[in-house]
Amino acid sequence: MLLPADLPTPLTGVDDPEFAAAGAELWLKRDDLAHPTVPGNKWRKLAPNLERALAEGARGLLTYGGAYSTHVRAVAAAAHGLGLASTGVIRGAELAGRPRNWSLAQAERDGMVLEFVERSAYREAASGRHEHRAGYYVLPEGGSNGLAVRGAAVIARELADQQPDFGPRDVVCCAVGTGGTLAGIAAGLPDGPRALGVAVLRGEGYLEGEVTALHRAGYGREFANWRLAHDWHGGGYGRVPPELERFARWFEDAYGVPVERRYVAKALWGAYGLLRAGGLRGRRVTVVVTGVPDPVR
Ligand SMILES: Cc1ncc(COP(=O)(O)O)c(C=O)c1O
Repeated sequence: MLLPADLPTPLTGVDDPEFAAAGAELWLKRDDLAHPTVPGNKWRKLAPNLERALAEGARGLLTYGGAYSTHVRAVAAAAHGLGLASTGVIRGAELAGRPRNWSLAQAERDGMVLEFVERSAYREAASGRHEHRAGYYVLPEGGSNGLAVRGAAVIARELADQQPDFGPRDVVCCAVGTGGTLAGIAAGLPDGPRALGVAVLRGEGYLEGEVTALHRAGYGREFANWRLAHDWHGGGYGRVPPELERFARWFEDAYGVPVERRYVAKALWGAYGLLRAGGLRGRRVTVVVTGVPDPVR
């Protein structure tokens, strides 16, 4: 059985002196607490896709990812819970014969069949557009498609209900990998508040195009209430420079919230960085805690 999600996720204020000194406020939308096995934005993006897969009578889920992909683990857990088969197409043919890392081992424990492909062929495959496997519902790498964007929009709609006078003073901030979560948040906001995405990889220009394409896929139109910050990726995807590690540890110690390093730490780092640069003066900033730390670091 797949347990239901615990929604709406909590919204908590952080009593931070730096934000206060800038006439600003910091809040956390605790999506990390949404679900025990499919936490954070994984639940938001998968929920409408799982509904569609079941409605179509799929007998399995198929998706793509790297050797440590949170999305791959989440798909395996969701399929397991729903009694569906699952297949994970994993980047790196050389991994096939090696002992499984903790992430792939967990996916296999949930019954996922792993297929390893050459890195050169992976990029083309990972959109899922050319995959036709009878009975399988295909999710692209990262799980970002039109339905996922609609699922992530619920984050913004919850905030509008939870935060009194949610309006032009509000900025909703999240980490951006494939762009689906940010696209959903922007699409779900009422008029007034704005969405701010912190890119976790070097993707200036490219990522803006991805978010726009996802808006078209989910809603058939574009939105103008969002922007991306590109100065907080820490050197690229998966890179955690010492300064970022120090910041994440400080935040965990100061406020008692576990900080996932590849995404959530960068979103928080970006929020503080932009505040220090004077960009968020007077704003109420809500950072969406989109995931949980890896069990192994
Ligand atoms: C914890 C966490 N936060 C944020 C993201 C980024 O979401 P998106 O790919 O929708 O931009 C991911 C993506 O895998 C993630 O695992």
